[in-house]
Amino acid sequence: MEKFKLAVLISGSGTNLQALINKFASDERIEICCVISNNEEAYGLERARIAGINNLSISHNNYPSRKEFEEALIKSLSKYNPDLVVLAGFMRILSEVFVNRYSDRLVNIHPSLLPKYKGLETHKRVIENKEKYHGVTVHYVDESLDGGPICAQSKIRVQTDDPDDLKKSIHKLEYELYPNVIEEIANGKLFLSNGKVIRK
Ligand code: GRF
Repeated sequence: MEKFKLAVLISGSGTNLQALINKFASDERIEICCVISNNEEAYGLERARIAGINNLSISHNNYPSRKEFEEALIKSLSKYNPDLVVLAGFMRILSEVFVNRYSDRLVNIHPSLLPKYKGLETHKRVIENKEKYHGVTVHYVDESLDGGPICAQSKIRVQTDDPDDLKKSIHKLEYELYPNVIEEIANGKLFLSNGKVIRK
């Protein structure tokens, strides 16, 4: 039987990618078919190399417009025919060109309890606002910043005033939640229907 194929898009260190590699490296049903970075320096590419996963960089700087960059991404991705495109620290906003191509098959992880704290520096802002709770969200992706139907969230009580400490705690949640949600999607237990997340 053909495996359920994940294409992972990254821009940086790729610790979430590593959590996915660890979870699925010897899975009988799910595999990472490729890792693509818009940043050729991303350490995540090295993680893919070490794991023997196809990897490439496509720099947005080499394209005159967002549309052309996304078309190049689509062209490369379609060679691997992924069942799910997984954004894991991919630092480019995707327009409808890309989102429509992979509609219902595109997920992201964001370090906040969406819809609160879209965008960057979430840990710092959570501390500044003296929030009691912080967390992570896995969501299907639409063309708005950190927008789209929510698949799952995990949360913790904020017990530090150091953004770096909080980030470490949030990362631990991410490494657990993202692989689990992706496994649910691959097993047909979680999917999008008419714009709504259905969990069986
Ligand atoms: C994670 O915090 C993720 O939630 C966000 O970007 C960060 C990526 O970190 N979207 P890494 O590259 O996986 O280490």
